Amino acid sequence: MLTITTHTKTIDASPDNTMAIFTTEEDLKTDTFTIPKNISNIINDINLDGFRGRKATSLFVPLKRNPMIIIIGLGKKKDITIEGLRNAGAKVTHECRLHRIHTVHIIPPVISGLEQVSVEYAIAEGVYLSNYDFDIYKTKKEDAPGLLKKVIIHSDDKKASTKSLNDLAIISENVLQCRNMINDTSDKTTPDHIARYAKKLSSIKGVSCKVYGGKDIEKMGMGLFMAVSRGSSNPPKLVVLKYRGNSKSEKWAAIIGKGITFDSGGINLKPSKSIEDMRMDMAGAAGCMYTLKSVAELGIKKNLIAVLPLCENMVSGNSYKPGDVFKAYNGKTVEIGNTDAEGRLILADALAFTEDRLKPSLMVDMATLTGACLISFGEIVAGLLTENDKIADKLFNSGERTGDRLWRLPLYEDYAEDIKSDIADINNISSSRHAGTIIGATFLKNFVKKTPWAHIDIAGTAWISKKRGYRTKYATGYGIRLLCDFIKNVDF
Ligand code: BES
Ligand code: MG
Ligand code: ZN
Repeated sequence: MLTITTHTKTIDASPDNTMAIFTTEEDLKTDTFTIPKNISNIINDINLDGFRGRKATSLFVPLKRNPMIIIIGLGKKKDITIEGLRNAGAKVTHECRLHRIHTVHIIPPVISGLEQVSVEYAIAEGVYLSNYDFDIYKTKKEDAPGLLKKVIIHSDDKKASTKSLNDLAIISENVLQCRNMINDTSDKTTPDHIARYAKKLSSIKGVSCKVYGGKDIEKMGMGLFMAVSRGSSNPPKLVVLKYRGNSKSEKWAAIIGKGITFDSGGINLKPSKSIEDMRMDMAGAAGCMYTLKSVAELGIKKNLIAVLPLCENMVSGNSYKPGDVFKAYNGKTVEIGNTDAEGRLILADALAFTEDRLKPSLMVDMATLTGACLISFGEIVAGLLTENDKIADKLFNSGERTGDRLWRLPLYEDYAEDIKSDIADINNISSSRHAGTIIGATFLKNFVKKTPWAHIDIAGTAWISKKRGYRTKYATGYGIRLLCDFIKNVDF
């Protein structure tokens, strides 16, 4: 685990003290660097020809008798953003790992218009989140450059900085653990495995956990959830985690996460190139679970529930089939147009169950629901669908603040036309090929009665095909930073 500490602005002049400093294109022209006074002379001896301070560029300067220096470019002053600073933090990790450095002093830049604690936080966040490998199955680890172990942030306001960096470490560590759970194989991360882990979270102050098995799920009338899970020999689990952060309030927010631990597509089997990564189809559930864990560890004074429907979508003699009809928890009947549109089925039952039994004041579900979302937004932003403008604004703002960004799509009533069924109340797929992400949300809308609700489609953002700044390849841990910020800031 990476340790982050704060320090006031002095540093020993030793090559062991690698130091990261930052510069803009403008400041580089006048040699203006933020650097501890006692060693500020060394910068004069460095040849900076060829380094322009452009965004996401870096220069490693090995020095004898002085700290090694990593100079990170921030680009033009007017273009600097918090997200840009996170990516600058990722550059620090990159340079340190490349040169096998395990401890680094960071001298955060002063940027006009941005608070110093936010600048420090963003850079440290970028360092923390990029300092990650998923290598538990590699038997030879020597070749890979090791991870950074210690980061010392130099700050004038040690007290404010320490508090904010403690929170950062809690959230970031949970993001990395969440990535581990998503990246791990479906053979290991079964519904039972996740449910057992959820149970363990009850050791955190204020957290309790209930796990329902297949028989309970069946008895409660979740016919859609049962239909999806019945093709697998790994039985389904429904996890309900609660964190009571405010004992004076009876109001709860609920987050509901799609937990398909492997999505083969079922009888509508996915082809090669679509199926290989489908162990990631539980990223919504993992994101919700680690959000609750973070909120509890941060001691946020809000009441939060996480509901996780967990199962596999598999092919067997017992699988559910296209053309079948099943009854949902809320009594509605659903014709199966396609067994690969399974996420909306388990979420439909989970949403109806959550509203009916747990009576939250607010519901947000997060799901790797549609390939169409990836087509629309790529790997950069998630889809947001809700009829509630207040929740939409709050979520959007949390997305902008944290970098877990999302963008709203409409949920007009007219779309309901396309999921009509001839033999049941609704079909789980559209009669057309259009608007896949909106159709997914339109289906879910049928299972929410009156509770303010938002749906977040993370099919594009939960898992990425290459490293992007501080987001490492494959599982990103999307949604934890978003939902922690949202829960902190929303009234319910
Ligand atoms: N888990 C997939 C969605 C997905 C696709 C997530 C790509 C991540 C990357 C989901 O269960 C699915 O298969 N959706 C279908 C729905 C269709 C049959 C209506 C899809 O998007 O093709
Ligand atoms: Mg599917
Ligand atoms: Zn799926």
